[in-house]
Amino acid sequence: MMNSTSRWIVPLLVAVTACQGGEVPPRAEDGAPPTPGLRSQHGMVSSANLIASEVGAEVLARGGNAVDAAIATGLALAVVHPTAGNIGGGGFMVIRSPDGSATAIDFREKAPLAAHPEMFTDEDGEYSFDIHHTSYFAVGVPGTVAGFALAHERYGSATPWADLVEPAVGLAGDGFTLSPALARSLANVLPRMEPYPASVAQFSKDGVPYEEGELFRQPDLARTLARIRDQGHDGFYSGETARLLAEEMVRGGGMITEEDLARYQAQERTPIHGTYRGYDLVSMPPPSSGGTAIVQMLNILEGFDLTALGHNSAAYVHHLTEAMRLAYRDRAQHLADTDFVDVPLERLTSKDYADELRDRIHADQAGHSEPSQLAMAEESTETTHYSVVDRDGMAVSVTYTLEQGYGSKITVPGAGFLLNNEMGDFNGKPGLTNDRGLIGTEANLARPEQRMLSSMSPSVLSRDGELVAVIGTPGGRTIINTVMQLVLNIVDHGMTIEEAVAAPRIHHQWLPNNVRIEEGGISDRDLAALEAMGHEVQVRGSQGRASSIGVDPETGEFIGAPDPRSPDGGAAAPSGS
Ligand code: DON
Repeated sequence: MMNSTSRWIVPLLVAVTACQGGEVPPRAEDGAPPTPGLRSQHGMVSSANLIASEVGAEVLARGGNAVDAAIATGLALAVVHPTAGNIGGGGFMVIRSPDGSATAIDFREKAPLAAHPEMFTDEDGEYSFDIHHTSYFAVGVPGTVAGFALAHERYGSATPWADLVEPAVGLAGDGFTLSPALARSLANVLPRMEPYPASVAQFSKDGVPYEEGELFRQPDLARTLARIRDQGHDGFYSGETARLLAEEMVRGGGMITEEDLARYQAQERTPIHGTYRGYDLVSMPPPSSGGTAIVQMLNILEGFDLTALGHNSAAYVHHLTEAMRLAYRDRAQHLADTDFVDVPLERLTSKDYADELRDRIHADQAGHSEPSQLAMAEESTETTHYSVVDRDGMAVSVTYTLEQGYGSKITVPGAGFLLNNEMGDFNGKPGLTNDRGLIGTEANLARPEQRMLSSMSPSVLSRDGELVAVIGTPGGRTIINTVMQLVLNIVDHGMTIEEAVAAPRIHHQWLPNNVRIEEGGISDRDLAALEAMGHEVQVRGSQGRASSIGVDPETGEFIGAPDPRSPDGGAAAPSGS
């Protein structure tokens, strides 16, 4: 199947309908409902880039299932959304079949064989932020291609692998028109790519930024994608691609070898399952902390009447904040790759434990986060999430990333793809915990072939066996809280999927001990009431880009809800029956 020579003959031959996220007003400041999402009975793709959503919808229109469409969308995003779409990074895919069974594909990056817990220290043994986050040591062994190949082998339909990769090959080789947002983003990142000539060559015109409306071609990437098209997993993990990647590691003093690449395998895992007021949520297990923390918070919050408190009232934000504080402290303490460490998942996600935690929440007084205990680092907001449903109701939720925007900024010369800087998600140095945000606990230290802890939380919500929504978002540690609030918006506040996605979000992560609320997300009176309870509140920009899909409970239609915060986002659906 991997060697199929069938080709994507004419891109977008089959009709798809689409709507662009940017057309939706960011927020209903005046109380008006958000612009309606795209509706279809035939399947749906919602992502951070309309071109990629259309590629996925085209696969659905040709009879592919949701897994096929998710693979094609993901590979297209690697071309048209280079900040986070990738083949040089990793991520997670949660799949829910129409019969209600669910599984998860873990294609998180791994530490190379030469990794060790002290690898982010300098010659004096001091922790180095630069080594941890911006050096060649920051690059983890990529997982995306292995994850997509495994998902296709186990859960794809009869659609040949080559047909899923070919649209991305075409987009990279023939080029696509740069949107204003992507042109701006490429111009902004260019100075940080200067140390890497292959990156400057790929993402600018000899050092001069591209302008919006120009054709953006990536011929080296097209050749790499063609090898992946023709050889599947091996087109990335052995042969030419692996050789080019390993050579770049030698050139830059990195650790990843051809052996690391040859050994990389994606893993199928059992999703985290939780219930909330009669709804079922499946989400990502470790090495993500997301599913565990979301279920833990929902269990705590189930004991409060959130509907009566009212969305984003002071009392509501207070109760959410306290649940977040408790769950993020446990996250820092316990969560890591379960292939290497024991994590008390059953207890963390149990209703009994939530009862204990709930008792610690004071009705109108902020709790404590001890800065002398573990602290959290700031994270960037560049990752990407997309959601797919096919006509049968198979749902696929994918979040994948290079970690920061454009990852390490290192493009593999001759291969045209960016490398992640995901090793920064490991703890920096054993025992080094400080109030600047470093954690030094054992569980998440870099060890050979361990996967670094993640917050990515692709999730699927259902009720009485029926699909309700496919949800997820980028946003570093805010991901967990954004996904949790999407669930609350649907369940407790009766919002439509468009409203749930557009509604202002809040974030607290135990440490630093402050509540962040999106601009326009809280009234002055409620803000003052929160401060009176002892909360430090920061009102700030935008949190997440939750490209989601809902199901209309009356008609059964799928509703594509791209996030209005996502400038190039869009939903697309097959238009025929
Ligand atoms: O895996 C994680 O949790 C992070 N590396 C994700 C980074 C991220 O979401 C950045 N932006 N949105």
